[in-house]
Amino acid sequence: MTQIAERQLTEDRIDKLLEQMTLEEKVGQLTLANGGGGHIPDWLDEGVRRGRTGAVLNEVDLDMVNELQRRATEETRLGIPLLFGRDVIHGFRTVFPIPLGQAATWNPEIVERGARVAALEAARCGINWTFAPMLDIGRDPRWGRVAETLGEDPHLTSVLGAAMVRGFQGRDLDAEGSIAACAKHFAGYGASESGKDYNTTNIPENELRNVHLRPFKAALDAGVCSLMTSFSDLDGLPASANEFLLDQVLRREWDFDGFVVSDWDSISQLQIHGLTQNDRESAFEAARAGVDMEMASTTYAHHLPQLVTEGRISEAKIDGMVRNILRIKLRLGLFQRPYVDAGIFPAWGNPKHLADAREAARQSIVMLKNRDQTLPLKPTELRSLAVIGPMADEPYEQLGTWIFDGDPALSQTPLHAIREALRDQVDVRHARGLHTTRSGSREGFEEALHLARASDAVVMVVGEESILSGEAHCRGDITLPGAQRALVEDIASVGKPVILVIMAGRALALDSLPESVDAILYAWHPGTMGGPAIADLLTGISSPSGRLPVSLPRIGGQIPIYYAHKNTGRPPTPETFIHIDEIDAGAPQLSIGNTSFHLDVHPSPAYPFGFGLTYGDVQYRAVSCPNPQVSIGSSLEVIVELVNQGSCRVEEVVQVYVRDLVGSVTRPVRELVAFKRVPLDGGEVRHLRFDIDTDALAFFGRDMKRKAEPGQFHLWVGGNASATLQAEFELLP
Ligand code: NOJ
Repeated sequence: MTQIAERQLTEDRIDKLLEQMTLEEKVGQLTLANGGGGHIPDWLDEGVRRGRTGAVLNEVDLDMVNELQRRATEETRLGIPLLFGRDVIHGFRTVFPIPLGQAATWNPEIVERGARVAALEAARCGINWTFAPMLDIGRDPRWGRVAETLGEDPHLTSVLGAAMVRGFQGRDLDAEGSIAACAKHFAGYGASESGKDYNTTNIPENELRNVHLRPFKAALDAGVCSLMTSFSDLDGLPASANEFLLDQVLRREWDFDGFVVSDWDSISQLQIHGLTQNDRESAFEAARAGVDMEMASTTYAHHLPQLVTEGRISEAKIDGMVRNILRIKLRLGLFQRPYVDAGIFPAWGNPKHLADAREAARQSIVMLKNRDQTLPLKPTELRSLAVIGPMADEPYEQLGTWIFDGDPALSQTPLHAIREALRDQVDVRHARGLHTTRSGSREGFEEALHLARASDAVVMVVGEESILSGEAHCRGDITLPGAQRALVEDIASVGKPVILVIMAGRALALDSLPESVDAILYAWHPGTMGGPAIADLLTGISSPSGRLPVSLPRIGGQIPIYYAHKNTGRPPTPETFIHIDEIDAGAPQLSIGNTSFHLDVHPSPAYPFGFGLTYGDVQYRAVSCPNPQVSIGSSLEVIVELVNQGSCRVEEVVQVYVRDLVGSVTRPVRELVAFKRVPLDGGEVRHLRFDIDTDALAFFGRDMKRKAEPGQFHLWVGGNASATLQAEFELLP
């Protein structure tokens, strides 16, 4: 059957169902109820049997799922199956790195594989819909949910978000193990003021379209089944009542035919925002704007039937909302195959899934520093190694946020893995130093110092426990919490080589701390197999290959700091930058020649977006655009020559940035347009070719239409956003 015929058949089936449904049954399809608890409460039983509940979240007991599905499909008039939703964010039992860590792989294949494993493990207990991927742009590390983002960049987020959608949904949506994805939070949540969760956002339309909406469009192009609204207020209209987003952009411009779900209670919260007077008006505003399904709160169930009877909302509008949901239920094959047989799925935490999680963690870890090749460790030169720090042996804390179903018993910690890796070769000892990452007491310092003095080298594992990031877990101070900095500095003063491993749910501001240590591995929350992945890099089984998906600030006061900023009319220059200590008392204030910087911190980040070291020595030798005049609609060829001057085999993430010098609206100083992860043997020279479609240069300009504008461009190729190897090209009409 052709795709068109298949689609028509789906619409015909929906027509038939709609003809038979009462208004209450229709509203039932728009209702997502919180189940959970491994039993079926009376209200849920009644809701399902009477067709008043179309979807359930947080039920992960397969017997309950199948029983609820039986009641929905065999004991209701119309037999419409239920959706079972769950936050399967970065794994299920087997936990992969947090999404921010997965973004540091810069590897869509790894990210897709991670989502596939998560889908297979979740499907095993009946989940057929995940609330992922999160596609909010993360430019504020204070925000706890930055951990769930794919970083600061719209292109990287788009590529990796689409990969996640493909991983969750599989090639065929109705195949066993495919679950519906949900791109969230539509839209602008990442721009919550002051990095405080749920806070207001103010995003001009130009920035909204050029930055925040881009990954959602990419998810749509990858076939995402559903979208979730954001909790936040955007330009005076909370996202769950935002007709511009939900109707104008999503349906009219993008032609989305899946469904939109509210976030938890976000429809009833319209009243708290001060947009409506009561639940009835909240239901009206959300339905009018285009929210198809209500999560948790019950304003739709209680008020939509009456709003229809009163003629304020048409039944045709309700039919359209139901249609969007039934379409996905049909595409998922739930009508033919409502039940799940756990036996057909691979076991949770099986060796293949663990190996995938290890590879993802390995590729997610970013090496920030490696003075005098401290790493990899040379076991033949070491007799003893001290592993110190409150995160070294914490099976739960290395998993990160959103791990409802994660199994800490599967976790392998750095201490455990380092001991395994160096068994029979090196005496590996451990001291916590601090009780938790937040402890201020120096009680444990002496033991740790003693251990450091008595060892040949020290690995310190510090950072943040899982609970310090994630929803509603934002921080005003993003330095290492507690007395960790003092611990690192004290241990460093012993004079042994110190390797710092940081596990955190965000970019931390390390200030001058990197100067005290010899090497740094930034490991995010690396998940179940974080320990072995860290050990693989420490011992040189693999070269580090992760790249920062966010700019790492020097201090919190630099936030927001991201590479794709605008130039301003007075950009900072080395000549104009003055440090606070250089200002004489009584110095006059002048306005001429001033530029944009802080007096007390260098304008650049501590480590730029895209940064990451390897055990090789990769040099970018040349870049050229063989055809430097390219017409809109064709593609720009970029040739890069790079060499690994080191002896170790590495994977290098080659990045291409452009700058549109003059636009109808101002353009960022650089934008990532392409990247490739390439293996390079020691001594290997590679010539890489990128074909960049001119569509990658398009943006929403002054007329708010998306197009590339002719003119001059600069282009840089290199291993991070500060790359200096440059070429130029001209875009012709
Ligand atoms: C609220 C969160 O914002 C959202 O991301 C999540 O999917 C829902 N709760 C369901 O747990």
